Amino acid sequence: IWPLGHISALNFALGMTLGVALFAIGAGAVHWARTLMSDEEVADERHAIEADTETRAKVHADFKQGAKESVIGRRKLIRNTMLGALTLVPLSGVVLLRDLGPLPGTSLRHTMWSKGKLLVNMNTNEPLRPADVAVGSLTFAKPEGLEEHDEGFMNEIAKAALMIIRLEPDAIKDKRELEWSHEGIVAYSKICTHVGCPISLYEQQTHHALCPCHQSTFDLADGARVIFGPAGHALPQLRIGVNDEGYLEALGDFDEPVGPSFWERG
Ligand code: FES
Repeated sequence: IWPLGHISALNFALGMTLGVALFAIGAGAVHWARTLMSDEEVADERHAIEADTETRAKVHADFKQGAKESVIGRRKLIRNTMLGALTLVPLSGVVLLRDLGPLPGTSLRHTMWSKGKLLVNMNTNEPLRPADVAVGSLTFAKPEGLEEHDEGFMNEIAKAALMIIRLEPDAIKDKRELEWSHEGIVAYSKICTHVGCPISLYEQQTHHALCPCHQSTFDLADGARVIFGPAGHALPQLRIGVNDEGYLEALGDFDEPVGPSFWERG
């Protein structure tokens, strides 16, 4: 009885012989490289990069001859017109740059967050209270007053989106993170500092947040520092507190630009 079930003997023989053949080719290549190839090192000297005197003299002579035959030296109007045109060429670049639109100014450094803005649950559209955030859960939040139908919503949410998690205060290793939290609730930018994907995975046991794009991993119990992957910076943290009515609120804007780390961080 053939022991491998539905695999036919012919296929098995084909696989085996192909495997043996590839192994034999590999073994032969290794043997050839180690025992038969010569160990002698061969260096090919580079020739001088600079042209010899005779060639340079010929190029100079050809250039002078060409300039003479073009009569450009004697036709001052043509020459000056040409020089003027060449001077104006870079101006077209200035016009092209202008067409890129207004300069971003400081808009890339600021988000909608400011002192007193409530943290609103992105799914329910309700302001968050500390009791709404359970230990180990991941909640996404936006600033109050930012609605999906608003013009410019995508631009604003791309900078202001937050991840809210609650940790046991004892588990928070970073001193500033602890100070900027409220009863273990911490708010971090949801925008990956690599190339700006939204982070969406959170591992409760390790407190790691994972970016699905290129697997950058951030330790949310240790200042969201990068522990794996291509991201160059920790995720920015938003300082939060609770207002008189018991809702979670921002205590200011991020103190550094959110998102990709190619911005020069001041
Ligand atoms: S965008 Fe997050 S790892 Fe690349």
